[in-house]
Amino acid sequence: MQFFVDTADVEEIRSLAETGMLDGVTTNPSLIMKAGRPMADVIAEIAGIVDGPVSAEVTAIETAQMIAEGRRLAEIAPNVAVKLPLTWDGLKACRALTADGHMVNITLCFSSAQALLAAKAGATFVSPFIGRLDDLGLDGMKLIEEIRTIYDNYEELQTEVLAASIRTTNHVQLAALGGADIATVPPAILTKLIQHPLTERGLEQFLADWKTSGQSIL
Ligand code: G3P
Repeated sequence: MQFFVDTADVEEIRSLAETGMLDGVTTNPSLIMKAGRPMADVIAEIAGIVDGPVSAEVTAIETAQMIAEGRRLAEIAPNVAVKLPLTWDGLKACRALTADGHMVNITLCFSSAQALLAAKAGATFVSPFIGRLDDLGLDGMKLIEEIRTIYDNYEELQTEVLAASIRTTNHVQLAALGGADIATVPPAILTKLIQHPLTERGLEQFLADWKTSGQSIL
């Protein structure tokens, strides 16, 4: 499974990249707003830190404008994936941009029918939003499983399932169990994935016993 980080904070990306666990980055207009810097600068900087796909989202809502914005964003770096909303205009723009050879991430996916359309439009990635479905008392993880089953039913559907709107470490585990190809995870959750009290307690005990033994390896 691949890990993307869901942030436009360059310092956080730099520090996570050092773990060797980072396969890509996703941003959206809200995250760019939080970064408080020009989008083109932020995306260029991120694309220089991470070799994998860096999603940059268009803000136009009509196909022609989406294509124009998508092409502009794709010019920033070869690893930019153009992010488009799951609308008819977005899907038409997806066809055009993938025909150009660009990666496309279709976002705001909330049903398996929508995911089927995204794959038929040739999207590189589809982003089902787990947390926002859970917020409504629905089952975000069921959506991941449904999409996985549908895509596996048809060899021609090659779109990768990018689990998004992840709010907990458990979401990451369940997305992996459900067959998501990628999880895009907020930095704080990605950092937390390693934590387990028994690991910490076990390490403390080993170190205390080693000290008592009076030995040294080097
Ligand atoms: O980038 C899309 C997605 O991950 C948003 O997450 O927490 O705003 O629902 P959230």
